[in-house]
Amino acid sequence: MGNCFESCSKSNDIVDENIDSSVNSKTLSQGDSDPERSSTLSSPCSLKPLITGKDEADSNLSAPSKEGEMMNSQHLKSFMLDELKNATGNFCPESVIGEGGFGFVHKGSVNDGAGIEIAVAVKQLKTDGFQGHKEWLREVNYLGRLHHPNLVKLIGYTLDDEQRLLVYEYMPNGSLDNHLFEKGSTVLSWSLRLQIVIGSARGLCFLHEDKDQIIYRDFKTANILLDSGFNAKLSDFGLAKDGPKDDRLHVTTEVIGTQGYAAPEYLTTGHLTTKCDVYSFGIVLLEILTGRRVIDKTKAREEENLVQWVKPYLQDKRKAYRIMDTKLAGQYSHKAAFMMSFLALQCIGDVKVRPSMLEVLSLLEKVSIPRHKKSRSKGFDTYSSSPMPSKRFLITN
Ligand SMILES: Nc1ncnc2c1ncn2[C@@H]1O[C@H](COP(=O)(O)OP(=O)(O)OP(=O)(O)O)[C@@H](O)[C@H]1O
Ligand SMILES: [Mg+2]
Repeated sequence: MGNCFESCSKSNDIVDENIDSSVNSKTLSQGDSDPERSSTLSSPCSLKPLITGKDEADSNLSAPSKEGEMMNSQHLKSFMLDELKNATGNFCPESVIGEGGFGFVHKGSVNDGAGIEIAVAVKQLKTDGFQGHKEWLREVNYLGRLHHPNLVKLIGYTLDDEQRLLVYEYMPNGSLDNHLFEKGSTVLSWSLRLQIVIGSARGLCFLHEDKDQIIYRDFKTANILLDSGFNAKLSDFGLAKDGPKDDRLHVTTEVIGTQGYAAPEYLTTGHLTTKCDVYSFGIVLLEILTGRRVIDKTKAREEENLVQWVKPYLQDKRKAYRIMDTKLAGQYSHKAAFMMSFLALQCIGDVKVRPSMLEVLSLLEKVSIPRHKKSRSKGFDTYSSSPMPSKRFLITN
């Protein structure tokens, strides 16, 4: 990784480079897909997953070998099941902090090895299904070797006969989805929204801008977690996939993801590229600007589909601000609103002209720094033109 922060890394302590070919022997077909794998937020507009077709790489898989499928990572701790039972009060209902397609998420605390108790989130895989095992394995194998301030930290795992668990750093502010869409949640200010957008863009850039490119494939508000300072961290690498190799332009694979976030060209051809993540990023950007879900059945018919609703506004500079979340109460300049919505439009546009995440990040940073600061700060140019800038950034628009 050429352009990353000092504190980010992709470890080389890998035993098996081919994640997909190391998993279970069962092949995926439409009938095998797990219909439960979706955000199970009780909202009527929760989005259903898309799982269709068959993954090329998965069609010739050998029998599962449990630990043999896993890469070595010195960063990950292998927890005994009893340790995690102790950590979560035997997975008691009071410890539940969320539920996704993977299973329940519990809050707990474990010893960090130096005698200090740290808060953790423990994800417990529903015991059924090949898809779940495959996602668990991908999570361990990717997050075990990826380290970046905008990726959630995986602390360890448990693999115990039927039980599969994942232990993460605890993110006190939950998911972006909770903050944007749940009734009664505190309103995220414009500056916090910008901070979150930029942090998630940095996370995606880290994955894309490396010779060992990774396509995240599940970029959505539910997978953006927020730490105590509302810094964004990407979670859930269960659908992540290595990018194309040997001069190939795309990876051909099963169509899998969450409805509303998947790029149209991927849905029709199964061709996966980093530009698919850019499309999902554009959708999330729209959700952040409007405070609306990509698909919301509770809205009037013509407003159910966010993309269709916003498009006519986004094409007109004078109307762009009309899509903005009214809860923001005009904390932004019209110019910033237009630039952000225009960027979203480019991200969800035709794949041939869709920008890269690096280009997206560079533009976002320009929006986030007001003009008077730009002209006064000598360091700004270096900072803004840097493909992967340092952690310092100003958010004032
Ligand atoms: N590390 C964490 N720290 C704090 N809360 C977390 C953490 N991981 C997950 N959660 C909470 O658990 C919820 C469920 O997360 P999970 O990733 O299982 O499902 P999801 O992303 O909502 O849906 P999907 O099934 O598509 O993954 C999140 O919305 C969040 O509130
Ligand atoms: Mg998730």
